[in-house]
Amino acid sequence: MGANFITGTGTDIGKTWLACALLRHWRAEGRGVAAFKPVLSGFDPAHPAISDAGALLAALGREASPAELDAIAPWRFVAPLSPDMAAEREGRRIDFEQLVGFTRRAVAAPDQAVLVEGVGGVMVPLDDTHTVRDWIAASGLPCVLVAGSYLGSLSHTLTALEALQKLGAGVTAIAVNETPGSAVALDATLESLSPHVAGISLVAIARASPQAGVARLAALAG
Ligand SMILES: Nc1ncnc2c1ncn2[C@@H]1O[C@H](COP(=O)(O)OP(=O)(O)OP(=O)(O)O)[C@@H](O)[C@H]1O
Ligand SMILES: [Mg+2]
Repeated sequence: MGANFITGTGTDIGKTWLACALLRHWRAEGRGVAAFKPVLSGFDPAHPAISDAGALLAALGREASPAELDAIAPWRFVAPLSPDMAAEREGRRIDFEQLVGFTRRAVAAPDQAVLVEGVGGVMVPLDDTHTVRDWIAASGLPCVLVAGSYLGSLSHTLTALEALQKLGAGVTAIAVNETPGSAVALDATLESLSPHVAGISLVAIARASPQAGVARLAALAG
């Protein structure tokens, strides 16, 4: 079964929502699943369930206990900032080699569909010399690029794709997660992107009826 890195054109684009939807879809099919959010900023230890790791654990049917959080999200930071800034606030730094080692071990389960959620967008700094894109490339995982359908998303999406491809990262699919209230229609976003992303699957996630897109993505990424 497949392992995928869930990245996005930016923060709040729907990475966690989509990861949880995929996990629930696979579980309903009776498949083994695992998910990780190795780097998590904006984590409130008093409310662990209200975090990306808490959401992923809920989708996995597991508790947001300290041991479970340590297992899926070892680099947790309180400040709701980019990881490099959030780590610095605590006098810490993310050891890139350790992060890549953790990710490689996490996805080693051969009999499971595994998702690793990144942090923010493709080019978010992890430290002074690495971004999320370096993490993806060094982990050797194909990724799902989550994008939106807001005005401006076309350029954000193609820029993110270019950045990923420059380092040789595989792209399983681009998931266009409908932006609520956007003046740009979801279908029009896919139509416009399509000729620019030859060979890459485009999956539409419609707010009102996400299931078809989630099922298609589950088949591509599982
Ligand atoms: N397709 C969708 N249907 C309903 N709600 C959605 C959908 N996509 C995203 N959301 C909601 O939008 C908000 C942002 O989504 P989400 O937390 O998944 O983004 P993210 O990319 O994981 O953000 P971060 O960079 O903080 O990890 C959340 O409240 C989420 O539940
Ligand atoms: Mg998230």
